[in-house]
Amino acid sequence: MNINKILIDSFVKATERAAYGASIFKGKNDKISADQAAVDEMRKQLNSIKMKGKIVIGEGELDEAPMLYINEEVGTKTGEELDIAVDPLEGTNFTAKNLPNALSVLAVARRGNLFNAPDVYMEKIAIGPNLPKNLLDLDFDIKKNIQLLAEAKKVKPNKLTACLLKRPRHDSITKSLIEMGVKINFIDDGDVLGAISVADPKTNVDIYVGIGGAPEGVLASAALHCLECQMQTRLVFQNDNEKRRANKLGIKDLKKKYNIDDMTKGDVIFCATGVTDGDIVKGIKDHGKTFTSETLVFHKSSKINKIIKNYNKK
Ligand code: FBP
Repeated sequence: MNINKILIDSFVKATERAAYGASIFKGKNDKISADQAAVDEMRKQLNSIKMKGKIVIGEGELDEAPMLYINEEVGTKTGEELDIAVDPLEGTNFTAKNLPNALSVLAVARRGNLFNAPDVYMEKIAIGPNLPKNLLDLDFDIKKNIQLLAEAKKVKPNKLTACLLKRPRHDSITKSLIEMGVKINFIDDGDVLGAISVADPKTNVDIYVGIGGAPEGVLASAALHCLECQMQTRLVFQNDNEKRRANKLGIKDLKKKYNIDDMTKGDVIFCATGVTDGDIVKGIKDHGKTFTSETLVFHKSSKINKIIKNYNKK
């Protein structure tokens, strides 16, 4: 069953409000307050929506996050049963430093259709639409994956662009990419947008690779599901406590590779509102009593893929 299209505007409002909350702290070097304001605003709006909503990706578990925690029930407790993945502020550093590409993000699916991932790291590889199914695999080394992608796109590897988070843990991937002449688009943070960039012809990104947050991976999978792209992921555990957290969420096979269908199923709404100006959407502009916002919206079943610009009352 599809998600009622009528709900789209209400979810857009949730990321708009969260982005507005965070935007008050743009450039104030206070990422905690920015995140808190985004959480408060998003939660308030989610609780006004006619739905039986449950947070499956949120700010953490109840003992570490009092609001928008995993398994928190949101909404009016009437209407459709929905699972919601939220990242009220994706790019806390970007906001604190007033740098581009801070977003407020959420994804909604029917109950049971979003991967309830723990807040650990995740290996990710993503490519755009219209490519052979299951082309790449996390078990291949990066050079083989690049070679396969280049062959499928009928170009030399040195015509490809890869996007990855600039982190020391990616030094070996970076070295291989440089050896193959692949252009690298490094990002400092924000790998939801990084992964989605494979679907945006404006960015010229052919492949997203590397390790980032698992919650961000699930959010990216929801967007890429709407855009008919491919993504494969695998959780990365740093200690036994993280493994226990995964077990608690029902994950038995800790080495499992997840394709998009394992992370996001069925109909999906995805919304991402700009906090600061970015590559895809502009940030919040404050006009005194009102503010303007830009939100990237996808709805799988109605094939909505657009940017909504709104004037909002504060
Ligand atoms: P925050 O906005 O929560 O700070 O996350 C930003 C982010 O860059 C994510 O996009 C990414 O998945 C994760 O942090 C990477 O984590 P780390 O900074 O530990 O490498």
